[in-house]
Amino acid sequence: MNQLFKAVKVTDGVYWVGAIDWDVRNFHGYLTSRGTTYNAFLILADKVALIDTVKRPFADEMFARIASVIEPERIDYVVSNHSEMDHTGCLCEAIAAVKPEKVFASKMGQKALAGHFHMDREITVVGDGDGLDLGNMKLSFAETRMCHWPDSMVSYLHEAKLLFSQDAFGMHLASYERFADEVDRWVLDYEAAKYYANILLPLSPFVAAALEKLANLGLELGMVAPDHGPIWRKKQDIEMILGLYANWAERRPASKAVVFYDTMWGSTAKMARAIGEGLAAGGVKVKLMSMSASHRSDLAGELLDAGALVVGSPTINNCIFPSVADAMCYLKGLKAKCIVGAAFGSYGWSGEAPRQLDAMLGEMGIETAAEPLRINYVPDDEALGRCRQWGCKLAEALELKLKLAASK
Ligand code: FEO
Repeated sequence: MNQLFKAVKVTDGVYWVGAIDWDVRNFHGYLTSRGTTYNAFLILADKVALIDTVKRPFADEMFARIASVIEPERIDYVVSNHSEMDHTGCLCEAIAAVKPEKVFASKMGQKALAGHFHMDREITVVGDGDGLDLGNMKLSFAETRMCHWPDSMVSYLHEAKLLFSQDAFGMHLASYERFADEVDRWVLDYEAAKYYANILLPLSPFVAAALEKLANLGLELGMVAPDHGPIWRKKQDIEMILGLYANWAERRPASKAVVFYDTMWGSTAKMARAIGEGLAAGGVKVKLMSMSASHRSDLAGELLDAGALVVGSPTINNCIFPSVADAMCYLKGLKAKCIVGAAFGSYGWSGEAPRQLDAMLGEMGIETAAEPLRINYVPDDEALGRCRQWGCKLAEALELKLKLAASK
């Protein structure tokens, strides 16, 4: 067995036996700039339980970490909190190697595992209120459907007051630091928000329901151990991440506009800069993002607290520029919800793109605050003045909407 990888003690009787993926950058369309971890946990009670596994290429790393504290064959139970393959990629291998007495998953997890792996192994279904007696320790389960998949559930280890939360409260961050209080706060803030925006945002109503469910269970949370990134163990950190999730799930917009665009010959970029000046002059915080220099997942992160989404595209062959269309499709899937939207773009011949973007904003449920702004060819000073003015009007519209929302 590989001697390089060691388990990391989380608390008495609990070890982290996951894997660090320093190199992953594309996580189903999400730019994971800092890599990620696939967290698996070993509970060394009278009965030994493995909570989740890791992505398949990292199986050796997980087995080596397990073997650094216990012979893998001594594992009695395997719990699959979430069936997405970054956590089950080596589940079949693990089952074959350790031959556990039982494998546990939610009802939907059982279906998902069958659909993924076509295994002949029996899966024991657990749900709300079910427990697993480990002798001197006890696990309880609670379903958290759609946080992230229909199968998602969490497991709570009573003696350690430890919640194994699968994807929820995680982040994509490769590091040797296993605990959140060992990581720079600004990194935690950025990566937790980006993760929520790209993974959980469209599922916000389910996140809110899960938070309520956990609160109603009255569990004392001494530690929260997600399936990605660091473990939360300080009271103030746990309160912080739970509070952030409550805010994000509620989707409160701020006085902030994200202007994203791409450009063919620089004209739509000139418009974007003038519009940004107008928005800023109107007192709104502004983020300009060229899609030739920004990734769609960073755009999603910026939109998490934005009140206005302003999108610009030149028209190419009667259509939206590809990078802008890509970002809009991604944002539509994430159910990005701003309270104000608007579209703009330079064009040469027919100029359909801004109108097409305006229609897409409508399909996304974002009310447009101004007619699409189109400029033929290269904007001159007069045209840029109009762009700036258009930005000022968007700022006014956003501020008005925010005031109305606050007065309700
Ligand atoms: Fe980390 Fe939904 O898997």
